[in-house]
Amino acid sequence: MSKALILVVEDDPLQRRLIKQNLESEGYTVFEAATGKAALETVRTNPIDLAVVDYRLGEEKGTTVIQEMLAENPLLTAIVVTAYANIENAVEAMRKGAYDYITKPIDFERFRLAAERALERQKLRREVSVLRSSLEERFSAKNFIMASSRMEEVGRLIARAAKSDATVLIQGETGTGKDLVARSIHQASRRKDGPFLALNIPSLPETLVESELFGAEKGSYTGATERRIGKFEAASRGTLFLDEIGDLGLSLQVKLLRVLQDGEFYRLGSSRPLRADVRIIAASNRDLESRMAAEEFRADLYYRLNVISITVPPLRQRKEDIPPLVDFFIKKYGAREEIKIEGVTREAMSALLRYPFPGNVRELENIVERAVVLGEGHFLTLEDLPVFIKEKPEEEIGTGEKTLTDMVRGLEIREIKKALLEANGIKSKAARTLGITERMLSYKIKIYGISV
Ligand SMILES: Nc1ncnc2c1ncn2[C@@H]1O[C@H](COP(=O)(O)OP(=O)(O)OP(=O)(O)O)[C@@H](O)[C@H]1O
Ligand SMILES: [Mg+2]
Repeated sequence: MSKALILVVEDDPLQRRLIKQNLESEGYTVFEAATGKAALETVRTNPIDLAVVDYRLGEEKGTTVIQEMLAENPLLTAIVVTAYANIENAVEAMRKGAYDYITKPIDFERFRLAAERALERQKLRREVSVLRSSLEERFSAKNFIMASSRMEEVGRLIARAAKSDATVLIQGETGTGKDLVARSIHQASRRKDGPFLALNIPSLPETLVESELFGAEKGSYTGATERRIGKFEAASRGTLFLDEIGDLGLSLQVKLLRVLQDGEFYRLGSSRPLRADVRIIAASNRDLESRMAAEEFRADLYYRLNVISITVPPLRQRKEDIPPLVDFFIKKYGAREEIKIEGVTREAMSALLRYPFPGNVRELENIVERAVVLGEGHFLTLEDLPVFIKEKPEEEIGTGEKTLTDMVRGLEIREIKKALLEANGIKSKAARTLGITERMLSYKIKIYGISV
């Protein structure tokens, strides 16, 4: 996470400079304000983490300024500075929302400790608010199985995306692991200590999407009974994951485009621009290009989002991932159910390898979970799998198959033959259906000796 943003609110220029220099020497980014008004302006337009506020600001009271700042940004932490003789001011300030106080003349050693403590608390609060708003915390980068060469390629793209702040567009069928990819990018990026927030666009009506994204002033729409902090604000210095971006309405597409272009956005019902320090990762399981052709998705937004493009292939095109995924899910659910399961029988694995998994990894995960819960023995058997998986295809593949490689080969041969038949022998068309390049298809046809 980039260093915290601190605002020094102090009317005495000398004192202000002293505090600023001191904090800057610790590596913090420091803003200054001489008046309550200037302080509020700064808080409105910058995601300030910590405000150090003098109790006496000319005519104004520091406590009032703190209250106003907290109303602007409830995630902010404030420290009040007061003369030792007026310690009761500190008590009042803390009642009004300050987190800590320090006395003048400032002992900078103590001051730095207080600032650190306040920022630590700030980080915790942010995490708590992040946990609250992120729908599911069950994905984690280390639980990401990438055994196939196609997923290795995805892994390389994740690593590259993590090095930059560029916008990423992840595409892939449902259940292929787009969430996991987004989270992995965040976790590997320099924003990893910042929040990761997700917004699932189709799950919300349009006005709510807008206020969820950009925040809303009190009374800006029916039901807005208090100010709402949007995800662009809450995800500051972190990553915002926009899931199913294809479902974003056209007017919100314009607003999102503006944030991506100028880094500025507005709370609903406010004309004050706010700055965004957020990395955007968008995902879609719909064909954005055809939505674009149908003028349902703006081309300019598409190109803005698609700076780094990651396509997660469907599971049926990377069957090598099935065995390690099965293994991983057996361990995961075995641990949860406190059942020790050694593995899968060959018949069961072979049935799994045959199945096309329209629901991709999510479907596989559900199947394994169910099998672990319902299974009786120490191995997952064919009986533990749902009926539709047990059904044998018309033509048994690769009879006499022994190893996993053999099984996969048998499967590939069958799928290629099928695709070629459907495409009337036109290789380019068959390659498209299979999701591989024509060159790769020609190569496989050659090594497997398939007749076209
Ligand atoms: N490579 C993988 N390794 C381990 N678990 C995976 C992998 N890919 C997907 N999963 C698991 O499968 C489930 C579905 O993945 P995820 O939610 O990331 O898919 P998605 O592409 O975002 O789906 P949707 O389009 O429905 O939003 C999750 O529980 C996820 O943890
Ligand atoms: Mg998803």
